[in-house]
Amino acid sequence: MANPPFLFLLVLLNVAADPRAGADAPDSCAGRRIHIRRIPPRFNTDLLRHCGADTFPLTDASAAATSAPPWESLANHGLGPRTHPRSRSWYRTDARLMEPFFHRRILERECLVDDPAHADAVFVPYYAALDALPYVLDPALLDASARHGAELAEFLARDQPRILSRRQGHDHFLVVSGSAWDYSQSPATDPRLWGSTSLLRLPELANFTFLTTESRMWPWQEHAIPHPTSFHPSTLPHLRAWLARARWSRRATLMLFAGGVSRPSRPNIRGSILAECANRTDACAVVDCSGGKCSHDPGMYMRAMLRSKFCLEPPGDTPTRRSTFDAILAGCVPVFFEDLAARKQYGWHLPPARYDEFSVHIPKETVVFGGVRIVEMLQSVPEAEVRRMRKRVLEMAPRVVYRRHGSTAELRAAGKDAVDLAVDGVLRRIRRRTRAQEEGRTETIYAMEDDSVEM
Ligand SMILES: *[C@@H]1O[C@H](CO)[C@@H](O)[C@H](O)[C@H]1NC(C)=O
Ligand SMILES: *[C@@H]1O[C@H](CO)[C@@H](O)[C@H](O)[C@H]1NC(C)=O
Repeated sequence: MANPPFLFLLVLLNVAADPRAGADAPDSCAGRRIHIRRIPPRFNTDLLRHCGADTFPLTDASAAATSAPPWESLANHGLGPRTHPRSRSWYRTDARLMEPFFHRRILERECLVDDPAHADAVFVPYYAALDALPYVLDPALLDASARHGAELAEFLARDQPRILSRRQGHDHFLVVSGSAWDYSQSPATDPRLWGSTSLLRLPELANFTFLTTESRMWPWQEHAIPHPTSFHPSTLPHLRAWLARARWSRRATLMLFAGGVSRPSRPNIRGSILAECANRTDACAVVDCSGGKCSHDPGMYMRAMLRSKFCLEPPGDTPTRRSTFDAILAGCVPVFFEDLAARKQYGWHLPPARYDEFSVHIPKETVVFGGVRIVEMLQSVPEAEVRRMRKRVLEMAPRVVYRRHGSTAELRAAGKDAVDLAVDGVLRRIRRRTRAQEEGRTETIYAMEDDSVEM
C-alpha cells in the first residue's frame, strides 16, 4: 500500500505559493485565508501506525468500538478501501480517520497562505483521535490520559510563538473525530475514567475551535460537523445518480431501526423501539448493527434504508449517531426523539429552522412513558407529505456528504459539501471572535451567538 506520509509531503510542497491577488483584482480570498501549521510528523502522519490489529495487543480486537481502526481504513487518505473493486463512490469509511481526510481536503483548498501573518485562520493538522488511542486502549497508559495533547500544546507554544500569540489562539482550529464528550474528562478526575481524555480541558488549547462529530450542551469550544458516511462521490454524475436512485426507490417498509439490538435494562427510547418493532414486523424493520457489525459495511443498512420511508434515530450512548447521515443520504426521512440528536448540533450544515420540513420529531418521553406508538404516529403522515419530506431531505443530502478529495471541478462548483461548510462555519466563528478581540470586547469572545445557516 502507498505510504501516506510521503503523499502528504508531496502535496505540501505544492501549496507554498501565496495566492494573494494583484492590487486591483477583486480579492476572492478575502476573509478566507488559511495557514496550515507545520507540526512534526509525530503529531499526525506518524500516528497512522496506530492503525491495525497488532498495535494494541492488550485490547479485545473483536469489539470494533474498542479497537484501533483497521489498517485497510488508511487507504484513500482515510476514506478506506472501496466497498468492492468496481464501486465508484462507496468506501469502508472508519470515522476515526476523518482527521487525515480533512487534512487532505484542506490541502486542496484555494486561499492557503504560507505566511501566518496573512491568515484569517490557522489549521492545526493534528490527528487527535489517533493520538488518543494509546490512552484509551492501553491500560498501562490510562493514568496518563490527562496528558493527551499536552505535547502538542508545548510544541505550539515553543515553535514560532508569535503564530499562537498573535490572536491568543482564537484563530486556531482543528478537527477531532468523535464526540466532544470523549475529550472532556476533567484533568483532576482520579482514578481516571476509561475511554476518554482531557484534550478539550487543556488550558493552552482553550481558545481553539474544535470540529467534532458531536458537541456538548454548551459548545463554546467546539462545533459539530456531520459524521462521515461511506458515500464519497468524486463527480457530479455520480452524486446525481445516487440522489435519483434514492428519490425513486420503492419504499415498502414504514420505518427502520439500524443499530444495536441488545435490550437495555432500564426503560429508554431504544428499548421502546425494539419492543414496538418486535410486535409490528409488518411496519418496522430492524437491521442488527450490534458490536460494530455495520461500521465498515454500508451494504448492511443502506439497502434497507432505501426501502424504508422513515429511519428511527434514537440516542445511544451519546445523542448523535452516524446513521442519521446515512438516512439523509438514502432519502429515508429521519425521526428524532430529542433536539440534541441533530437540531442543536449541525447548524452549519442543516438549517435548524427547517427540520419540520425534512424530519419528524417525537419526544422520547411520550413514547417511553406516554404510551405513544411510533408506528401509529408515522402511519398518520399522509403519503404526499412523506414524499415532500423525502424531496427536502435529499436536497439537504449533498451538504452532509464528504466529497472525495480530488473531485472534478464540476462537482466542486455544484455546491458546498460537508468540509466546505465546516470551513465556512469555522471562518465565520473565528472572524467574530477575532473582531471581538480587536475591539476589546473580550467578554463577548465566548458568547454563544447562533450562527446557524438559513436556507
Ligand atoms: C484565551 O483568550 C483570552 C481572551 O482573549 C486570554 O485572556 C487568554 O490568555 C487566552 N488563553 C490562552 C491560553 O492563550
Ligand atoms: C406488544 O404486543 C403485546 C401483546 O399484544 C402488548 O401487550 C404490548 O403492549 C405490545 N408492545 C408494544 C411496544 O407495542
